Amino acid sequence: MKNFTSVHDVEDVAWLCGRAFAFKEKPEREAQSGRGKTLGLIFLNPSLRTRLSTQLAAQNLGMNVIVLNVSGEGWKLEFADGTVMDGPEAEHVREAAAVIGEYCDIIGLRAFAGLKDRERDYREELLQKFIEFSDRPVISLESATRHPLQSLADLLTIEELKRRPNPKVVLTWAPHPNPLPQAVANSFCEWMLRADVELVVSHPPGYELAEQFVEGAVIEYDQRKAFSGADFIYAKNWSAFGEYGAVLNRDPDWMITAEKMELTDNARFMHCLPVRRNVVVEDAVLDSPASVVVQQAGNRVWAAQAVLSEILSETGRGNRG
Ligand code: CP
Repeated sequence: MKNFTSVHDVEDVAWLCGRAFAFKEKPEREAQSGRGKTLGLIFLNPSLRTRLSTQLAAQNLGMNVIVLNVSGEGWKLEFADGTVMDGPEAEHVREAAAVIGEYCDIIGLRAFAGLKDRERDYREELLQKFIEFSDRPVISLESATRHPLQSLADLLTIEELKRRPNPKVVLTWAPHPNPLPQAVANSFCEWMLRADVELVVSHPPGYELAEQFVEGAVIEYDQRKAFSGADFIYAKNWSAFGEYGAVLNRDPDWMITAEKMELTDNARFMHCLPVRRNVVVEDAVLDSPASVVVQQAGNRVWAAQAVLSEILSETGRGNRG
């Protein structure tokens, strides 16, 4: 694994899950493999879980970690080529990424979708430019179209909690006041379609995800029907892909309620967090034993540790010989 930007960078998903579970059992199992190596975590957008879990994972491997919150602390970056930089952007990504590459052995980058220009977002321009100009392995900490560390942690959680082979996993859209990227939903689908689960995606008309992410999933516009017999309910809001970035629906009837969870087969409730209580999901679900959102967030450490360990090993940057 040279970079970790999507499930397509992973040769064997089941094997990577096994590595993550091994780290969960014994976090210090490779405590020296990253000694003398530096991970740079670059955030163009806010974070709680991704920042802390990835930092902890790197420290478990003996790595140094440096964090830059570009939006609050760094120079505003220009990504376009040939621009006359007489606006607010003080530094071009060509120099910024190359300089970060001088300081770091592996780079983690968070760069959300702008939700204005679909082609630019879906080209993953920001992520690709960091890969090109840093000349270092890059881990996506959530890009414009995907959140692979989250999806790996989601899969670990499902593997830990499933009560039967091929569980029914429902990704359901839920209301939110603001336009959010499609990254978590896209990525979740992409990973679930590589796992042994039955994936159903439920959303109001107009919220269809890009075909490349849902090909092979069942689409069910009736949320209650989707919930029937489900083993896992994964709630997430996303803005429209077709009418790009638009909020087409705020219908509170799509909120996840205890009454709807009754339609499932004692399903576990999942969400990547942060979550807006009583907008996306009601307190009665989030505070019930069905909710596994904290376990999910905990698994972010083992997902990140497995990925970092593989990159250290496969790029010859680690100390495992
Ligand atoms: N789920 C997730 O990525 O959380 P943060 O945005 O807080 O990192």
